[in-house]
Amino acid sequence: MDLKEKIDKNSLPAHVAVIMDGNGRWAQKKGNQRIFGHKNGVKAVRDTVEGAAELGIKYLTLYAFSTENWNRPKKEVDALMSLLISTINSETDTLIKNNVRLLTIGDITGLPSGVSKNLKELISKTSNNTGLSLVLALNYSSRWEIVNAVKGIVAEYQDNPIEISKITNEFFEKYLNTKDIPDPDLLIRTSGEYRISNFLVWQIAYTELYFTEVLWPDFRRNHLFEAIINFQKRERRFGKTSEQVN
Ligand code: IPE
Ligand code: IPE
Ligand code: MG
Repeated sequence: MDLKEKIDKNSLPAHVAVIMDGNGRWAQKKGNQRIFGHKNGVKAVRDTVEGAAELGIKYLTLYAFSTENWNRPKKEVDALMSLLISTINSETDTLIKNNVRLLTIGDITGLPSGVSKNLKELISKTSNNTGLSLVLALNYSSRWEIVNAVKGIVAEYQDNPIEISKITNEFFEKYLNTKDIPDPDLLIRTSGEYRISNFLVWQIAYTELYFTEVLWPDFRRNHLFEAIINFQKRERRFGKTSEQVN
């Protein structure tokens, strides 16, 4: 029986988020430059997106570039930005054909103009697609997002102060980049690192975490399916007792 058939289609995670890590180590192991790993990471992205779409997952968020990643050597950052542009261009037709809707989270205005222009075009070209929503986290970090939300609230209410009792979780979430996106049910991190690296810190309060040793360029849809099978064996209690949720 193949892995996909072991997945219960009635209890799929609605939202899977992935910290795609290990590109540099993958390349270095092969005696290559780090950017070779990033280039091969694109194949993993393509296969994972297709796998998620064929399963009927509603949201897939991929952490592609963090605000801290600007601190890498300029050569690597430049190569990543060019790779982003060429990937957007080469994947456009496939995304449209597969009914994928592209969204982004993060400070897109802080990306080079070539990247943000291509992204805007692809977002608008796919905006009416009704299949998988693919969310790219670009120039993203949770602390930036949360501070940005506070700025948004202050800007909106500075002339007519808001009643404190109106500030609830639901109110605050409307100011996050993820305002129309459900919280992730499952978060996958590749490459054997056990940390969150400033990713969706607010949103993963009750997310199931899954860590794998696989380096991102080797990740394929079967790895995604394995993670989902593992997820489906867990009991999510949200603070209640096991008896209550059963
Ligand atoms: C993930 O792979 C890609 C980005 C962060 C852009 P890395 O480049 O972090 O690879 P490692 O962790 O150094 O192996
Ligand atoms: C997290 O990976 C960011 C992305 C996957 C885009 P990093 O490789 O930047 O994380 P750290 O620095 O090891 O925590
Ligand atoms: Mg890394």
